Amino acid sequence: MNPDSGTNAFGVYVHWPFCLSKCPYCDFNSHVRHTGIDEERYVRAFAAEIAATAQRTGARTVSSIFFGGGTPSLMKPETVGAILDTIGKHWATASDVEVTLEANPTSVEATRFRGYRSAGVNRVSLGVQALDDASLKGLGRLHTAQEALDAVAIARAAFDRYSFDLIYARPEQTPAAWRGELSRAIDEAAEHLSLYQLTIEQETPFAALHAAGKLAIPDEEHARVLYDVTQEISAARGLPAYEISNHARPGAECRHNLVYWRYHEYAGIGPGAHGRLVVDGERHATSTERRPESWLMRVEASGDGLVGDETLTRAEQADEFLLMGLRLAEGIDPRRYTAFAGHSLDDARIAALRSEGFVESMDDGRLRVTAAGFPILDAVVADLAA
Ligand SMILES: C[S@@+](CC[C@H](N)C(=O)[O-])C[C@H]1O[C@@H](n2cnc3c(N)ncnc32)[C@H](O)[C@@H]1O
Ligand code: SF4
Repeated sequence: MNPDSGTNAFGVYVHWPFCLSKCPYCDFNSHVRHTGIDEERYVRAFAAEIAATAQRTGARTVSSIFFGGGTPSLMKPETVGAILDTIGKHWATASDVEVTLEANPTSVEATRFRGYRSAGVNRVSLGVQALDDASLKGLGRLHTAQEALDAVAIARAAFDRYSFDLIYARPEQTPAAWRGELSRAIDEAAEHLSLYQLTIEQETPFAALHAAGKLAIPDEEHARVLYDVTQEISAARGLPAYEISNHARPGAECRHNLVYWRYHEYAGIGPGAHGRLVVDGERHATSTERRPESWLMRVEASGDGLVGDETLTRAEQADEFLLMGLRLAEGIDPRRYTAFAGHSLDDARIAALRSEGFVESMDDGRLRVTAAGFPILDAVVADLAA
């Protein structure tokens, strides 16, 4: 079996690395610039990097495009349109291509959203984070809950498909408060929600506060209760988890993110973007310069911003496939693991995990993590990959 057969999914991720302010919990590649950003210069650099990447991949049909950040909703609609035009010049585009743009409620305006739609965007993902003002302030957000809900309404009016993100397991969050907040969020949601447990990322202001004992986050047991509340309410309301943090009505999953989790092929364009490209039958892990200005200069000098381009071994591909695929409720096809690794998964380990109720084998042969296994997913994956 060719591990890449049976799919024509090819995603393009485009990273816009700027934000109006840096949220204290966030370690994404995002930067605040007080001088104006020369968007035309970035458009030229994005075009050069897309051309260089297309030269490596050869012909592909793009099934999804994702503008992530940072805050892509700070881009002018013309910038988004120019990047989409360039993608369309270098690769074929599926007739039902999904084009998502991440937006921060602070920078959402109806005119801009209509501009994105005219440019070709057909789905937005909003960073709502919380529906109460005290939490939003604590998270360092620049918008209120009402502004976030107004942004959701603008998204609803402009796009058939939209999603929003919430962060839970926040300081002092009780299960009862989260129940109320999540129910309210689902009232506003259409087909998709991303529900992330707050993670203390190294070298963020939250990490420093946490280390100094000034930021109390829920302990493991309390976080588990909040996780269980999340699963219970979202499933009961028709938005079950299809991935550990992502919930959708069946059929409304984010196709672009499925490209990552199903371990298909994607190009990473822009500062600090990662890609997985199959070139001459070998899978490459690519990464680009993170600092926006350095990325620009690199692209202007050499045509791309690559700082990493590693050919993955079979074992590395098999591990990545497992790590990504087991995040999904649909699980993995163990035959694909065998095709990557050159050997099958260890039956004894599967049997042990199955007897503990952490994984299950489906009638069609797929292997997936159970509801009991998801809270300890890292340990399950580590056990299977060992
Ligand atoms: C690139 S941001 C989304 C778009 C936009 N920049 C915004 O914040 O509105 C991606 C998402 O990651 C989540 N996120 C970022 N840092 C996190 C953390 N430390 N713990 C949990 N979720 C986090 C947030 O929900 C955020 O919306
Ligand atoms: S959460 Fe969003 S707005 Fe905040 S710093 Fe990260 S990318 Fe920027």
